[in-house]
Amino acid sequence: PLLRRAAYRLNVASPAQLPPDEGYEVAFAGRSNVGKSSAINAIVDQKGLARTSSQPGRTQHLVFFDLDAERRLVDLPGYGYARAPEAVRRQWSGLIERYLQHRQCLRGIILVMDIRHPFTDFDRMMLDWAAAIERPVHVLLNKADKLSRGAGLQVLARLRRDHGTQQCSIQLFSAAHKMGIDEAHRKLGEWLEI
Ligand code: GTP
Ligand code: MG
Repeated sequence: PLLRRAAYRLNVASPAQLPPDEGYEVAFAGRSNVGKSSAINAIVDQKGLARTSSQPGRTQHLVFFDLDAERRLVDLPGYGYARAPEAVRRQWSGLIERYLQHRQCLRGIILVMDIRHPFTDFDRMMLDWAAAIERPVHVLLNKADKLSRGAGLQVLARLRRDHGTQQCSIQLFSAAHKMGIDEAHRKLGEWLEI
């Protein structure tokens, strides 16, 4: 029920704008257009809370949502959005890197992937880096509605086998079909201590 109370707090474009580094945060990361914002909406059961779009590059700031006075979800801009100008990309990636590396209250990273293109080079870099800075990662294989149930389970089993060493947990998810919500809630509840 606490997750359903998520409310928009602010957009952050520079480190000075970050809310105080207190309490608990979970950030949603991943390639552009994999459905990070849609996953947040499905998890908090509010259709239009995080802005979504069929055009990649929709989320351009760190977007903070309050659950209560000390718990927040953070929607990150997607990586690999090629159309953004180089200087803008560097500035954003600098901000996101600093945020992910130094944010004390960040309890974990939800790494969203498109189940049809999982564990891209960029995702692997993200996982290696998260392991190096000791951030736990939980992977949502989103858009599982695009595969049959059996095919989805096969992909899941293979990825759990191949990436089990990378210290991440992995689950099937579909923001569109509200699949995998309970499992995602359990992980968030653990990290946010709800
Ligand atoms: P950026 O903010 O641009 O990085 O994108 P994002 O990762 O936040 O993706 P967003 O939630 O905006 O969704 C991108 C597109 O994927 C939209 O057209 C969504 O409707 C679609 N989408 C998201 N989740 C699902 C899903 O579970 N299944 C299907 N079929 N489509 C989805
Ligand atoms: Mg987004």
